[in-house]
Amino acid sequence: MQKAVVAKLGDYEIRRCDREDVPSVIEVNMKTLPEHYSEYFYYEILSEFPETFLVAELHDVLVGYIMCRIEYGFSQLKRLGLARKGHVVSVAVEEEHRGKGIGTSLILASHEEMVKKSAAECYLEVRVSNTQAIALYQKLGFKVTGRVEAYYRDGEGALVMAARIEK
Ligand code: ACO
Ligand code: ZN
Repeated sequence: MQKAVVAKLGDYEIRRCDREDVPSVIEVNMKTLPEHYSEYFYYEILSEFPETFLVAELHDVLVGYIMCRIEYGFSQLKRLGLARKGHVVSVAVEEEHRGKGIGTSLILASHEEMVKKSAAECYLEVRVSNTQAIALYQKLGFKVTGRVEAYYRDGEGALVMAARIEK
């Protein structure tokens, strides 16, 4: 079956996640992040929000992913009011493939899909100690809009970061 490529970065391809990709996505998550989810959770997000669940692949090997939700609720960026928001639930790239722009491509490709779904902003939570990811988000226009103490199981706090994605 022809897979829908949404972006290319050298030999890397960014495309939509398929159900068959989920085991590899879980593998990348296990290797790269302390936050794990049930298998059910991945399939659930994929079936509800297939447009913004993307994977990065090099020669048919999955090396990164981004999974997101589209939500409606209080704006992270406007003082008052509601907004349609893309929520980056999790993004990761295998260590040996980092620093090549894959994370950037995954986030920008997800933003395009979020905009198509009428989202005006994108937000996420990130560990306060995750300087690498925070720097990347800042470079992509995300601003810190909040902080949640003891957000993670091990007691670490999260920064909430958000960016406007409307055209
Ligand atoms: N390793 C990592 N980063 C490097 C390296 C390297 N060897 N070399 C350079 N960098 C720099 C890059 O220069 C780049 O900054 P620049 O664009 O200003 O030059 C930045 O780090 C990384 O940018 P990308 O290459 O676009 O992103 P990458 O493919 O490395 O992925 C990510 C970034 C996803 C944060 C990755 O580091 C990762 O998987 N980390 C572990 C998992 C994680 O922390 N995920 C985010 C959690 S928060 C959430 O999911 C909402
Ligand atoms: Zn979140």
